Amino acid sequence: MLYLLDTANLEQIKRAFDLYPMSGVTTNPTIISKENRSFIQILKDIRNIIGEDKMLHVQSLSKKAEDIVKEAEYLNETIGGNLYIKIPVIPEGIKAMKILKEKGIKITATAIFTAEQALMAAIAGAEFVAPYVNRIDNISGDGVDVVAQIVQLFELHNIDAKVLAASFKNVQQVHEVALTGAQSVTINAEIMDKLLAHPLTDWSVDQFVNDWESVYGEGKLTLDVE
Ligand code: E4P
Repeated sequence: MLYLLDTANLEQIKRAFDLYPMSGVTTNPTIISKENRSFIQILKDIRNIIGEDKMLHVQSLSKKAEDIVKEAEYLNETIGGNLYIKIPVIPEGIKAMKILKEKGIKITATAIFTAEQALMAAIAGAEFVAPYVNRIDNISGDGVDVVAQIVQLFELHNIDAKVLAASFKNVQQVHEVALTGAQSVTINAEIMDKLLAHPLTDWSVDQFVNDWESVYGEGKLTLDVE
């Protein structure tokens, strides 16, 4: 399972990459616009924090294939590193995926709400497909089931593309998606923290420290070697 952080907030990215086993960052136009400063500078700053090797997924904005291709080439030249261009699964987006695949630019198909959208995007050349779990749940669909169907279709048809499940609002959605065999998830900083949070874990850690200190006093295990 690969964990990606779904944010353009630099402090959140620094913290998550310091603490957790992160594989990359995903953004979309909404996420970027929340930061309210130069789009390219934000992406360069993210690249500086995460380094050249970690994945950075950046979304195109245009609705015509030729313009999507231009945006992808611009981003690839300007940001570089392990970059994926997120392209929505509209017909012109699928056309752009075919062109960009030929050019060797890596693609993440996004705004996916059905398994058939994911299948076509993968056949067009997407390396990742991003189904929107919570947005599907919000229209009385079953986001986890759509992810499970995509995983199954890729296995059945021997397709190498990976699922990058997105749009999560709680830990249970992430857990159920992980059980489907989806290869990666992109989640916000709050849910990333919540994946670890448990009151009994905190209670146990406090108890260990209290018991230790009641005998040895305040200090660290490494006291003798410092
Ligand atoms: C991911 O790349 C998607 O753009 C994102 O997860 C959507 O999340 P939201 O439904 O919380 O906006």
